Amino acid sequence: MRVIIGPDPSLVYRPNLNQEHKEKSEYRNFESGGLIDRVYNTYKLMHTHQTLDFVKKKHCEWSGCGHAQMKMMEAVMSLDKLVDESDPDVDFPNSYHAFQTAEGIRKEHPDKDWFHLVGLIHDIGKNVALWGEPQWAVVGDTFPVGCRFQDSIVFRDSTFVDNPDDKNPAYNSECGIYKPNCGLSTVLMSWGHDEYLYRVMKFNKCTIPEEGLYMIRFHSFYPWHSHGDYMHLCDDSDLRFLPWVREFNKFDLYTKTAELPDVENLKPYYQSLIDKYCPGVLNW
Ligand SMILES: [Fe+2]
Ligand SMILES: [Fe+2]
Repeated sequence: MRVIIGPDPSLVYRPNLNQEHKEKSEYRNFESGGLIDRVYNTYKLMHTHQTLDFVKKKHCEWSGCGHAQMKMMEAVMSLDKLVDESDPDVDFPNSYHAFQTAEGIRKEHPDKDWFHLVGLIHDIGKNVALWGEPQWAVVGDTFPVGCRFQDSIVFRDSTFVDNPDDKNPAYNSECGIYKPNCGLSTVLMSWGHDEYLYRVMKFNKCTIPEEGLYMIRFHSFYPWHSHGDYMHLCDDSDLRFLPWVREFNKFDLYTKTAELPDVENLKPYYQSLIDKYCPGVLNW
């Protein structure tokens, strides 16, 4: 894990101006680019160790939300110390990405303040990496465990060879341990920041509408929302929420530019949304 602490000048982010005018087709390039080794290594570890057993253990470990007490804005700003090692598009602290996503949504959906807030907070579950969790159990795309790993998962061919579930006939059929159309809410996803934050929001009774909570829970499930895999596990409510997840994804992905937002200026607006939807000290 790469943690940026304090004012060490070697770690201060300097924008790569070549990235400023990126075409949409240039995002999520998992084949080449300056960050590719770091990205591949993170996914290799993730796809080796994320098994059904592992995910069940993580649910037990994190679901009680007894690890810390923190206000929402503190959690957002703690991402100053985290660079996501699975992301081929950015090499700057995640707190900037939070404000970039939120501001992108605010521009196109000015009337939906809860959506702006979802943009701001969607990745703050990554703060568990600052509490010692390895990045392969926190960041990156998610996928169901307990059933066949589908071809659209990134680096599918080369990174699951040491995952015992891939060879287990109870887990490697199309549906595995699940019933067709059981609904994604009953499916165990590879453990990461999506499911963790969803649980934190529920635990703390945050009042963001259900579609917003759904975006938080499944925004990293690219094999589903961007590749159309795993539809056989979906129920009607998953299909109803899918357009919301796709709408969110536009901003999560394409607002990643080298042009960094003026965070201090933006904070008062987003604090007002926090006060409305998830005020006070939260349990993490
Ligand atoms: Fe995310
Ligand atoms: Fe994100």
